[in-house]
Amino acid sequence: MTTPQAGILLPPPPLARYLSFSLTPGVPAADCLRALCRLADGERTLVGVGRALVSALGAEIAGLRGFPTFAGPGLELPATPAALWLWLRGDDRGEILHRARHLEQALTPAFRLDDTRDAFLHAGGRDLSGYEDGTENPIAEDAVRTAIVGADQPRLSGSSFVAVQRWTHDFAGFERMPAGERDFVIGRRLADNEEIDEAPASSHVKRAAQESFTPAAFVLRRSMPWAEGGRGGLMFVAFGTSFDPFEAVLRRMLGIEDGIVDALFRFTRPESGAYFWCPAISEGRLDLSPLGL
Ligand code: HEM
Repeated sequence: MTTPQAGILLPPPPLARYLSFSLTPGVPAADCLRALCRLADGERTLVGVGRALVSALGAEIAGLRGFPTFAGPGLELPATPAALWLWLRGDDRGEILHRARHLEQALTPAFRLDDTRDAFLHAGGRDLSGYEDGTENPIAEDAVRTAIVGADQPRLSGSSFVAVQRWTHDFAGFERMPAGERDFVIGRRLADNEEIDEAPASSHVKRAAQESFTPAAFVLRRSMPWAEGGRGGLMFVAFGTSFDPFEAVLRRMLGIEDGIVDALFRFTRPESGAYFWCPAISEGRLDLSPLGL
C-alpha cells in the first residue's frame, strides 16, 4: 500500500526552503539516497527526483522527461534541470536551516548542492504582487485525482510529477501600473479576488482557465513567495499525474497557439525551470523501488 508524500496535498507551510542538487560524476548515488530515505518523510521534507538521477541509476520512470524549451512570440524560458529537488516545509527558520544542513551532509559526496531558496507564506496565501494565489486549485478528492498517480499505473501508484519554476517579479514596474491595470493583468480584483469578466484575453486567469482546455488542464499548485535581499517573486510549484496539463497552460500563457501573451510577463519572468518525479511513501519510507533501490 503506497501513499503520496503528504506535503503535496497539504496547504503550503508558513516557511520553506528549496534545495536543488546535481550529481557528482563518478560517485554512485545509492548510499546517499538510502541516507536520504532515513531523513525525508514526504511531509516536512518532500523529495523530487530528476531525470539525470533516474538515468544514473539505470532506471526509467515513464512520464518523467526533461523540461522543454518553451518559446513564444518574444519570449524564451529557461530550462535548468537538477538531479534532486527537496522542499523543506516548516515553521521555524532555524530548524529548517539545520535540517537543510543535515540533508546536505547525508547527500554528500554523491550530490552537490547547487541552489538554496527560502520561501514563506505572505498575507495568508498571497503572491508578493498582493493577489490571492491558489483560489481555483482542485481540493479534496479532486486534488488527489489531479496530482497523484492512481492504481491504474501500479508501478508508480501514489507518486506524482512536479514542475518547478522560480519567477522573479519586477515589483517597481508592477507598482507603477495603475491599480485597475494590475487587476487586468491578473484578471481578478485585488480588493475582493472576484474574476473580472471584461478583463482582456491576455489576463492571467483567462489564459490559464483550466476548464477551457481540451482535455481540461488541472494542476495542483503549491507555490510560495520567495525573497533574497531586495529580490523576490514566486516559486511556482505544480503537481500533476503528468506534465501535460502544466505544458498546455504554459504554452497558452506564452501565446504559442494564438499570439496572445499572458500579461503576467509584463512584471515577472521565470529564471529557472525543472521537472521532477516525487516517489510515493510505503511503510513510512520513500518508496524508491521504481528506481531499483
Ligand atoms: C509569477 C508567476 C505566477 C503568478 C504570480 C500567478 C498568479 C496567479 C493568480 C493570482 C491566480 C488567480 C487565483 C487562483 O486561481 O489561484 C492564478 C491562477 C492560475 N494560475 Fe497562475 N500565476 C503564476 C504562474 C503560473 C504558471 C507558470 C502557471 C502554469 C503553467 C499558472 C497556472 C495557473 C492556473 C491553472 C490558474 C487557475 C486558473 C483557473 O482555472 O481559473 N500560473 N495564478
